[in-house]
Amino acid sequence: MREILLDLPGRPDSYQVLVAPGLRRRLPELLTPFNPPRPLFLVSDQRVSGLHGAGVQAELQAAGYPSILLTTPVGERAKTWAVVQRLARELLARGAHRRSFLLALGGGVVGDATGFLASIFMRGVPFVQVPTTLLAMVDAAIGGKTAINLPQGKNLLGTFHQPRLVAVDPEFLQTLPQAHRRNGLAEVLKAGFIRDPELLYRLEVLRGRLFQDLPRLTEIIYRSVAIKVQVVAADEREGGLRRILNFGHTLGHALEQASHYRLPHGRAVAWGMAAGLDLSVHLAGLPSEEARWGGRLLRDFGLLRPLPAMDPQRVLATLAVDKKRQEEGVAFVLLSRLGEPVIREGVSVSELAPLVFRLLGGKLTCLP
Ligand SMILES: NC(=O)c1ccc[n+]([C@@H]2O[C@H](COP(=O)([O-])OP(=O)(O)OC[C@H]3O[C@@H](n4cnc5c(N)ncnc54)[C@H](O)[C@@H]3O)[C@@H](O)[C@H]2O)c1
Repeated sequence: MREILLDLPGRPDSYQVLVAPGLRRRLPELLTPFNPPRPLFLVSDQRVSGLHGAGVQAELQAAGYPSILLTTPVGERAKTWAVVQRLARELLARGAHRRSFLLALGGGVVGDATGFLASIFMRGVPFVQVPTTLLAMVDAAIGGKTAINLPQGKNLLGTFHQPRLVAVDPEFLQTLPQAHRRNGLAEVLKAGFIRDPELLYRLEVLRGRLFQDLPRLTEIIYRSVAIKVQVVAADEREGGLRRILNFGHTLGHALEQASHYRLPHGRAVAWGMAAGLDLSVHLAGLPSEEARWGGRLLRDFGLLRPLPAMDPQRVLATLAVDKKRQEEGVAFVLLSRLGEPVIREGVSVSELAPLVFRLLGGKLTCLP
């Protein structure tokens, strides 16, 4: 089992992120040090609960941890105030109290909603993350950001509430559909681009076999987790270093919005990273052969399928959401070398316009 301590300096709530195939069968032993009150409260979405809920409950039950499984709808519909309120009511109806333990079993959606609920239920109860998507394993479950959505936009209500433990079991990925695997792969590649070129070499060697090779997949997940942990430990509240995690995301979010969310998140971020490699050559001195290698990797992992038609002006308008941003420019994460991020403040919309035209016209310089 690989263990990484997420050490939050000067705080009592540091915690372990554990990575190992089959970890779900060891949950009882991992929970014992916390002496959680019985029953445990599991939260999962309807799909994951159907696939894995009964198995996890049976393991817990056999070790003397009875549990109650609460379910949410599948997808972003779970990240709403109505669902959180309904879950809180169900917790109360089932006798939950201010020391009750929640366990989020699912992807980033379940983790975000459960973390948010845990942070406000009875002014905060402990919770554990058991991520079941690649994206949640390497990103969403780690770092304590929780959120739900409002009709005006995503993640507009949220808190920082660190879990007591994150238990990553790559075996869950065997049932994860390909499209959702890709979303997570974009984050794994991002970890490589910003911090760990060696991870990129390993991915290049594995390519199509990644999900068939559990030991190597576990190692890849572990390296990506380690990067997220390092960055969060250095900057929990996103004041400085944590911003490097936005590589590819600023433009990625603009593409998602401009496509009216027809473009899946992972592909939007991948195109954002390809554009980031291109812009890095122009503004940060990234050697063009490194940019081209990065672009090839993104393409070889199936992340750069053609973009749906969208209006470049709309993408630019989304990037510069308000007048203030238009005047001050956008902060962009760039790379001076692979693994060496630099934050460039105040990139102007006029500097970004040619990039957006190259991107939408299929002419990024990192993609021959
Ligand atoms: N808190 C953070 O720091 C952070 C970071 C990144 C993303 N997020 C959030 O994460 C969310 C996206 O997470 P996601 O991509 O995991 O989406 P998700 O949770 O919706 O899961 C994707 C789909 O996969 C299904 N699924 C999950 N695990 C499965 C498994 N093992 N087998 C089969 N199906 C499975 C789910 O039912 C769902 O349909 C977004 O809401 C985003 O805002 C949060």
